[in-house]
Amino acid sequence: MYTSDPSRYDGRMPYRRCGDSGLKLPEISLGCWHNFGHVDDQNEARAILRRAFDRGITHFDLANNYGPPYGSAEENVGRMLSEDFASHRDELIISSKAGHDMWEGPYGEWGSRKHVLASLDQSLKRLRLDYVDIFYSHRPDPDTRLEETMSALATAVSSGRALYVGLSKYPLKMLKQAVKILKGMGVRPIIYQPPYSILNRWPETEGIHDWLQEKGIGSIVFSPLAQGMLTGKYVDGVPSGSRAARSDGFLQQSQVEDQLEKIRALHRFASDRGLSLQHLALRWVLGQGAVTSAIIGARTVAQLDDSLAALEAPPLDDEALDVIDLIAPKVKQKTAEG
Ligand SMILES: NC(=O)c1ccc[n+]([C@@H]2O[C@H](COP(=O)([O-])OP(=O)(O)OC[C@H]3O[C@@H](n4cnc5c(N)ncnc54)[C@H](OP(=O)(O)O)[C@@H]3O)[C@@H](O)[C@H]2O)c1
Repeated sequence: MYTSDPSRYDGRMPYRRCGDSGLKLPEISLGCWHNFGHVDDQNEARAILRRAFDRGITHFDLANNYGPPYGSAEENVGRMLSEDFASHRDELIISSKAGHDMWEGPYGEWGSRKHVLASLDQSLKRLRLDYVDIFYSHRPDPDTRLEETMSALATAVSSGRALYVGLSKYPLKMLKQAVKILKGMGVRPIIYQPPYSILNRWPETEGIHDWLQEKGIGSIVFSPLAQGMLTGKYVDGVPSGSRAARSDGFLQQSQVEDQLEKIRALHRFASDRGLSLQHLALRWVLGQGAVTSAIIGARTVAQLDDSLAALEAPPLDDEALDVIDLIAPKVKQKTAEG
């Protein structure tokens, strides 16, 4: 039996307005991409969700295909929501997404109305919810007219299946068009979800963060710890059990090797400042003007607690920001993820 912690809104978790919308989000949100699938430890997953809520994390981020297997993170979180959080539904923001590969055949991915709305209905069943709070187009579809994908998002809102809509990983030009089309349909997207960390500054170099701020759209950034690379764990090699060591993890050992020099330099700099690398990484992301919330991942309750402890670290000063710029300068990337 779970009883939520009455001190969860005691001020330790700050909430930020998402752009100029009415919605406030916790500075740290919890993502369920890894660690919530059928392959993962369900007791730990449940303990993570409970601790997150007890510490004021009111936002859980999901997508149709999180697992593995695909769909299983929504199934597991849906069960936990119904068993532990049913009486807290109005305190929670639950997000899902459609667009990446999910099921077999021509309608199992991308941006057709058929895929987007069928996927949302599947997500609602797995999550055991009547509606999601935020529904995203998970990636741009180069072969489907934006009007069609955006019309599916507008239907998600008008049919009551989603309260808000957002876009993820759209390049700036498409993002501008998509926002304009949605507005023409009477729907204002309030949130954008890019990758963003000291090691991936794509939304800055593409001008996306400046544009979002100008338009009053929030940015909720994913993988602020660069999938774990911005913790001390990879400084001396790839430890067993880590994402880079797992066959079902999305972090390749080659990605770690490519970044190792920067990781080690950042780790040294953080230590000199009396900070852990993960606290430096989270303070850096949360100090960027455009950012509403950072979506972290956690495999254990201890990892979650560690990320939450970053909220108690002081903001980085200009000198620290300059050193970080020198170690990991902004570089143009071809795509959002590298
Ligand atoms: N829109 C999109 O396309 C998209 C794409 C990716 C992610 N997302 C969202 O963003 C969320 C977060 O992504 P992410 O999991 O990559 O975030 P992340 O916070 O950058 O990485 C989380 C991982 O870092 C490691 N870690 C965390 N704290 C640690 C600590 N204190 N010490 C050592 N290792 C630690 C753990 O991996 P180990 O297993 O190695 O311990 C953990 O699973 C996802 O769950 C999802 O909701 C969205």
